Amino acid sequence: MDKLIVQGGGGPLKGNIRVSGAKNAALPILMACLLAEGKVELENVPRLRDIHTSLKLLDILGCETTFDGNSVTSEATNLVPEAPYELVKTMRASVLCLGPLLARLCEARVALPGGCAIGARPVDLHLKGMERMGAEFELTEGYIKGYCKGRLKGAHITFDFPTVGGTENLLMAASLAEGETILENAAREPEVSDLANFLNAMGAKISGHGTSVIRVEGVEKLTGCSYKVMPDRIEAGTYMCAAVMTDGELLIEDCPYHELDAVAYKLREMGAWLEERDGGVLVRRDGPLVGTDITTQPYPGFPTDMQAQLMSVMCVAEGAGSIEEKIFENRFMHVQELARLGADIRLNGRTAMIRGGKPLRGAPVMASDLRASASLVLAGLVAEGKTEISRIYHLDRGYENIEAKLSGVGANIWREKE
Ligand code: EPZ
Repeated sequence: MDKLIVQGGGGPLKGNIRVSGAKNAALPILMACLLAEGKVELENVPRLRDIHTSLKLLDILGCETTFDGNSVTSEATNLVPEAPYELVKTMRASVLCLGPLLARLCEARVALPGGCAIGARPVDLHLKGMERMGAEFELTEGYIKGYCKGRLKGAHITFDFPTVGGTENLLMAASLAEGETILENAAREPEVSDLANFLNAMGAKISGHGTSVIRVEGVEKLTGCSYKVMPDRIEAGTYMCAAVMTDGELLIEDCPYHELDAVAYKLREMGAWLEERDGGVLVRRDGPLVGTDITTQPYPGFPTDMQAQLMSVMCVAEGAGSIEEKIFENRFMHVQELARLGADIRLNGRTAMIRGGKPLRGAPVMASDLRASASLVLAGLVAEGKTEISRIYHLDRGYENIEAKLSGVGANIWREKE
């Protein structure tokens, strides 16, 4: 396994960082390729572990793929209905093949995705929605076995919670269903809209995406198309944090700025200065950083995927700050690791109280999940001395070329064999 070494105290980061394609848009879009009769060409696909895993899964399901640079082609030639545990256990997003397989084959056998570090991650809302469309499921031997007699039928579905994955699975299932499907209390995340735009490019009839009520008019078939994946707002937000923490100035290129309103608002509250420029967003500090209070919410509220990164910013801000995590039940694994660097953070249930301004000193720390890893890299940039981050395979799931991008703007960061 690799580890990442960050030599802190290297001074302000200055320069340009280009954002890669969004992992959480590319993953559902890749699963949606199972729906297409014909060839799909995708641009701006980030080279990440989860993307390679998804392409392996598509190959196993009978959808031939190629991956050259940041371009993917796929052609669903002879689909088979089984997604094996060995693959699904490494990437929970594999459950997003359920909707497409049921829509195309009227059957699916997908290993039940286990939990992960941040929570149990159930998929009950996905299954309940598809049952409303005529699918039947049984959970046996660690697999979700689904089937439907004939074509899925359009239905009126109201989610108990605006689940991102559940909305995406149902969008894909409904695209080829008979009749109209209405999804109420649907997730509004930009990545859900990117999937809907991709499905429409293949001939689906989806409207209302980006709002809580999405309508899908089922069609007989979807054809291949060309599509460019949206840029990654969470990667962009992470580099904004790097700029303000190191008192530097970064131009974040290809930044999905309008999809980051809640993050920009909180960074400004803490003392950041952000301005849209042609092709990107210029970010720097505007005076001393001060703490603030954050509660994670479904979009357009503050995104849970930026919670760990803002906690690192609060560690170097003056005064107290608080973070309430309302999406996942166990998404504070980074707190103990940040404490090893000298951070003063107290946990009270799902709320973390951060006392900022304590000097951070480098130490060996361990990544536990994707965004926790990012928060440790950020803290390492400003900690005095060397920070060694182990288990960075978590980081490689969601950040393309992170050490090259950060080194390119002055960070002292490199990878070593563990
Ligand atoms: C997506 O996960 C993202 N992953 C997550 O990003 C992100 O944190 C999350 O949405 C919230 O924005 C991908 O897009 C691949 P949910 P997902 O269904 O779809 C509960 C990252 O770091 N729930 O909106 O799994 C669930 O337990 C990752 O890039 C049910 O109870 O999120 C959780 O508490 C981490 N039953 C909450 O809803 C269900 O059937 C949010 O889950 C589904 C979800």
